[in-house]
Amino acid sequence: MLLAGRPPRWTASRAAHTIDCMVSQAGYPAAPVDQAELARSLQAFGESVMLPRAAYVDPAVFAWEQKHFFGSGWTCVGFSSQLAQAGDQRAESVGAGSVLLSRDDEGTLHAFANTCRHRGHELLPCGTGAQRNSIICPYHSWTYSLSGELRFASGFKGRQGFDESAWGLVELPVADWHGLIFVDGSGQAPPLADSLRVLDELVAPYEPERLVIAGRHDYDATANWKILTENYHECYHCPVIHPELCKVSPPRSGENYPAQGAWVGGWMDLRDGMDTMSLDGTSNSAPLRGLDAKGLRTVIYVNVFPNVLLSLHPDYVMTHRLVPLAVDRTMIECTWAFAPETVDQPGFDPGYAVEFWDITNQQDWRACESVQRGLTSQHARPGPLSPDEDAVYQFVTMVARGYRGEPVWNPAAKAVAAS
Ligand code: FES
Ligand SMILES: [Fe+2]
Repeated sequence: MLLAGRPPRWTASRAAHTIDCMVSQAGYPAAPVDQAELARSLQAFGESVMLPRAAYVDPAVFAWEQKHFFGSGWTCVGFSSQLAQAGDQRAESVGAGSVLLSRDDEGTLHAFANTCRHRGHELLPCGTGAQRNSIICPYHSWTYSLSGELRFASGFKGRQGFDESAWGLVELPVADWHGLIFVDGSGQAPPLADSLRVLDELVAPYEPERLVIAGRHDYDATANWKILTENYHECYHCPVIHPELCKVSPPRSGENYPAQGAWVGGWMDLRDGMDTMSLDGTSNSAPLRGLDAKGLRTVIYVNVFPNVLLSLHPDYVMTHRLVPLAVDRTMIECTWAFAPETVDQPGFDPGYAVEFWDITNQQDWRACESVQRGLTSQHARPGPLSPDEDAVYQFVTMVARGYRGEPVWNPAAKAVAAS
């Protein structure tokens, strides 16, 4: 997706990386979670229960997740449009650490460990950006090219035995998937595309990489990131807390897709006479150009593990990017993207989509924060899942497999039947 006013210059790239890549993601240690309790989460749908309470309240489990779910494997760190021009740089958190993203003069996107090779200072503070033709450490001004080579180290010029080529930044695998940037913090994950192949076919008609972000809200929710994700995966709660949503989309409509990658999701219908998700069901935009008749009457809701929620509407794409801050706290970056020809219309106002989802988001965060508080009770126990919570089950089993030290997505796993 593109930020308003930024030209659509790049659509896909995967930079070469210098970390030695291994082919398998296996090899996680198990999480500090009671394995017998975990086995109950992995029973067949209809017999299973939610994750052990520790998954939502124990800082040791959170630290494990930061290392193995967010700091290793592919994690979303933002949008390609945030680095549209050569010289654009940005730092984003990845697990307990962070990465520095840069766009070089050839248009190639790079990701580096955000740590100077001198004495480890961050090259940029997390969540900030810069625009210049080199990467300069703010501490002693070691200077790197946009592709990570050390160019200048004050006082080291001509020093015997100092080889600048040995002190370049540590580069990590990076992928641009439909305008979303993913980084593999370990350098050991299999290619991102392998686990998103089927999802790619669902997302491609929406052309997210072409769209322009015209609305953004950052939320700070006092809830574990999994509670927010589990909430996204079911509309069992919709008749109770989302009157506005139920007016435009029947809460029991649609189906979930079978498990077939490192993602979970499904689709829901729009009610007759409703064009999109807005307070009155009307749209201020033209429909996205690549959609068929079904795409014009449905909304697809998918979660790319671990931290992206992608909601594909007939006329816009909403993205939630989750950044876990603590076991009970998550930053949520929510964006709304529209076709460039829509955004260019004089007087275009994205408020019809933003307002609707801001109301709905806040209803959700309130519920999730209450779940977090409820789970702090020492008497809280994992509960069963309703027949409408099959996508929650898919997500829970991904997490549970990860907790057992297995890849979260098992290609041999039996697909969960659509509800
Ligand atoms: S730590 Fe970066 S230049 Fe010294
Ligand atoms: Fe909701």
